[in-house]
Amino acid sequence: MEKPLETSPLLESRHKPGQTRWIRYELYPILVLMFSISAWMIMITLVPFDETTVPDQSYILDAEEWNWEAIPPEVTLLWSTCYKVLECARLRVPMDWLEPSNDSSVVLAVIRKNATSQVDYIGPLFINPGGPGGSGVSLIKESWRTFHTAVGDNHDLISFDPRGIGATTPQMHCFSGPQSETIAKIQDIGLSDSHPGVLYDKFAHQVLASKTCTANLGDAARFMGTASVARDMLEINTQLGYEKIRYWGISYGTLLGGTFAALFPDSIERLLSDGNVDYSEWYNGTGIHFCEDTDKVLDVFFGLCSEAGPSTCDFWEPTPQAVQDRLEALFTRVRKYPVIVEANRTLADFQNAVISYSDVKKAVVMSTYQPILFFSQLATSLRELEAGNGLPFLEMEIARGHMQKTFTCCGSAGCGADSWPLDAVGNGDAARFVKCAENNFPEENIEIVERYLEDMQKTSPMSGVVMFDYMKMNCVGWTAKAKWKFHGPFEAKTSYPILYLANIYDNVTPLGSAVRNHKKMEGSVVLIQNSYGHGSISAPSKCTAQYRLAYFQNGTLPMNGTICEVDARPFGIPLKIQEIDAREAGESDEDMANAMQELMHLPVVRGVI
Ligand SMILES: *[C@@H]1O[C@H](CO)[C@@H](O)[C@H](O)[C@H]1NC(C)=O
Ligand SMILES: *[C@@H]1O[C@H](CO)[C@@H](O)[C@H](O)[C@H]1NC(C)=O
Ligand SMILES: *[C@@H]1O[C@H](CO)[C@@H](O)[C@H](O)[C@H]1NC(C)=O
Ligand SMILES: *[C@@H]1O[C@H](CO)[C@@H](O)[C@H](O)[C@H]1NC(C)=O
Ligand SMILES: *[C@@H]1O[C@H](CO)[C@@H](O)[C@H](O)[C@H]1NC(C)=O
Ligand SMILES: *[C@@H]1O[C@H](CO)[C@@H](O)[C@H](O)[C@H]1NC(C)=O
Repeated sequence: MEKPLETSPLLESRHKPGQTRWIRYELYPILVLMFSISAWMIMITLVPFDETTVPDQSYILDAEEWNWEAIPPEVTLLWSTCYKVLECARLRVPMDWLEPSNDSSVVLAVIRKNATSQVDYIGPLFINPGGPGGSGVSLIKESWRTFHTAVGDNHDLISFDPRGIGATTPQMHCFSGPQSETIAKIQDIGLSDSHPGVLYDKFAHQVLASKTCTANLGDAARFMGTASVARDMLEINTQLGYEKIRYWGISYGTLLGGTFAALFPDSIERLLSDGNVDYSEWYNGTGIHFCEDTDKVLDVFFGLCSEAGPSTCDFWEPTPQAVQDRLEALFTRVRKYPVIVEANRTLADFQNAVISYSDVKKAVVMSTYQPILFFSQLATSLRELEAGNGLPFLEMEIARGHMQKTFTCCGSAGCGADSWPLDAVGNGDAARFVKCAENNFPEENIEIVERYLEDMQKTSPMSGVVMFDYMKMNCVGWTAKAKWKFHGPFEAKTSYPILYLANIYDNVTPLGSAVRNHKKMEGSVVLIQNSYGHGSISAPSKCTAQYRLAYFQNGTLPMNGTICEVDARPFGIPLKIQEIDAREAGESDEDMANAMQELMHLPVVRGVI
């Protein structure tokens, strides 16, 4: 699901080393919603820091040569060449699908990469990267080859920037540009449980932020909900000449898929729902099931670190409990004695910084999104923090986009220039204008919110507060409710069965949510991947890859409850013999293996939902 959006690459590129004297590297700002997208951008542009293979991204095209505004908006799909080898269109649709005669409109940025093989040509397949806030345009632009391998290159890959996001207009932002957003973020006061009373200050800050944001967004904020986006997707598919949709939704994309399926059950040809948001819980807004497995992923960290041995896990202790105790001791220490990192004037990247309890706890919980990529480096950073060395931690968090190297109001475009680009990996504010607008989270009642936090901390003692701050706190004070709120029912018999895909332990979209959704959708099937982290793509699994491909190619469904083993474990721990035996025997397919590596690096998995 969501992950904090952070600095935009724009800011990054504007930064001139040495310009600032200090660093505020807030992790997950109050204002940022879970699904932060700008962090994605940073993450993909930075040098990877993990032990896994780096995907070849040489095909990424230079976006500067082309621009969306050159395409006139039309009420029908008119494609033009973009990003050298892709096609783009700007489609005008009603702002208010419930009142389409009203002139107000939204112009959707749509992107397509045609099938590269005409053998058994299948037609269009939609992909949504989640968020809410992820840019479908960016996903196809950066990763179409990977998706072609994953689903078969006889599909035309289609995506679009959902309402408010990226090149779709109107753009919706709480701030006028990355600069003002950064200024707001550096006022973050830490986790709600960091020190007594912070919860109350944070609540007040967030109520104010919500009011400012809704005022900036204006009336359009009422038309950004998931139901409207589902209707937009139907419109694109219809204009492509198809009655039924083929769709792969990841994370929040599963909510978009489920909403689509509930609204238009007869329009489903294939629907793969990967990393599942509980439909009812999302719209209700007060559920806490989404964090029911977060601590289990942390338990995996303790267990595997202990199993890996001292030469592989730098935070090693002989038992999982001892690893956990060591971490708790670090939290206690750093709460009272934050780690100070002094400016090193020869290293522009590392200026003055204080690493607080909030920073460390957030980093630990955020690692649960991608254990294979993050656990090893996390262990090293924690050990160094214990020794009073904060540099490795800073490096890790900057690489993930959770902290900023430096902050400056003056970028290369000059002081005061502050606007949002059309090309974006996503929009971190979308988690608010979509989620807060369509759920029933209590708006301005601190007592209710306080009880809610307590419940989350009971469900998830180690991670509850972080998940609360990311997933819930950002909706307090939000008053702009969606006009079209589809709250179910989600019981439907779809024209083709949905394939739900879930990890044994997913830190933010648990298996339980997939099962609850599945029970409402007739004929649907749950495929379980024996891994931890967010979404099946957080771990490579030949078995999962084969089922996914077979579903899209042939419509083949696995038996409900089938469990797929994975091909890699965190810390590089070798697979157990029985796990290797249990994998579906498949020909070794190097392209698919590479595609799985690349999928693991997609920014989407690091997003909040
Ligand atoms: C059309 O929609 C806009 C935006 O919601 C709204 O302000 C306006 O009142 C609507 N006009 C009509 C005629 O419904
Ligand atoms: C992409 O595929 C569509 C549908 O088959 C076709 O109409 C269109 O011309 C193709 N575009 C390109 C650039 O080949
Ligand atoms: C949300 O769910 C809770 C717990 O299941 C329930 O008590 C409440 O009535 C629901 N609220 C809405 C608006 O659906
Ligand atoms: C600053 O960084 C440089 C380059 O890594 C290193 O050689 C130097 O010792 C560092 N200085 C301090 C004070 O840490
Ligand atoms: C689809 O079905 C055909 C015919 O049974 C088979 O040869 C092919 O391997 C299947 N493709 C996948 C990806 O399962
Ligand atoms: C399908 O599998 C899931 C996961 O094992 C299980 O919870 C669910 O009850 C099964 N559904 C049916 C209809 O058997």
